[in-house]
Amino acid sequence: MKIFTKTKNLIEYISTIKDKKIGFVPTMGALHNGHISLIKRSTDENDITIVSIFVNPTQFLEGEDFKKYPKKIEADKKICSYAGIDILFLPTAKDIYSDDEPHLLAPSIKGYIIEGYRRPGHFNGVLQVVLKLLNITKANNAYFGKKDAQQLYLVKKMVESLYIRTNIVECDIVREENGLALSSRNIYLTDIEKQKALCISKSLKKASALVINGERNVDSLKNIILHELKEVRIEYIEIVNRNFEKIEKIEINNSIILIAVYVGATRLIDNIWI
Ligand code: PAF
Repeated sequence: MKIFTKTKNLIEYISTIKDKKIGFVPTMGALHNGHISLIKRSTDENDITIVSIFVNPTQFLEGEDFKKYPKKIEADKKICSYAGIDILFLPTAKDIYSDDEPHLLAPSIKGYIIEGYRRPGHFNGVLQVVLKLLNITKANNAYFGKKDAQQLYLVKKMVESLYIRTNIVECDIVREENGLALSSRNIYLTDIEKQKALCISKSLKKASALVINGERNVDSLKNIILHELKEVRIEYIEIVNRNFEKIEKIEINNSIILIAVYVGATRLIDNIWI
């Protein structure tokens, strides 16, 4: 596994790679089984896999957890090496960003609803760094988890709108056996909070079971989820179609139920695609 910390050196190296399919997994580190499943998919489907670890400052809002975002670089290096990746990219913010540079703005509607409404500007930072990383890596395939459903939607939209030649691969959410969706931020949870957080996936499972049994009404489903979410502070429960448009009735194979809650001081998001 080659490790690059300078963008210039990585670009030079990638320019020497010919006739090989490149897979790319962008991350912010503190790797868990969710990331490992993205990496595995990339190593299975490509000749070369690049993983980036970069806690991107521009996607954190004032007062968010940028400074305390979990860092486990030595463990992450081992995980990447065992997973058989070819290139690990560990840039610094100074290397990625210059003082005065063009900015990419998330779409003014879909970038500012749901997650984007609670974290205005967050998706500008995400798209800005993902665009840079896709340009640097020249990936044929880039792997994103469905857990960050709106991020995934907006990245796909950006790739389509800017004619970027990377295929965005949607990857399933990975959960603990008890249903808790894996997230680097789960590290912040105490054991008691972890127990409390289980109501999130349970509520989504219940909603999905009701849909299977014929329930289609979005308001009824939201109400049921609301009652399941105990001992957490609800930020939102939203049901949209896969174009991130509000719907009144569930459209099978075209709907997503999204939840954001606080468990203690930790903000968690989760969703289910139905
Ligand atoms: O999902 C993430 O970890 C980040 O938003 C990403 C895609 C690596 C961009 O910083």
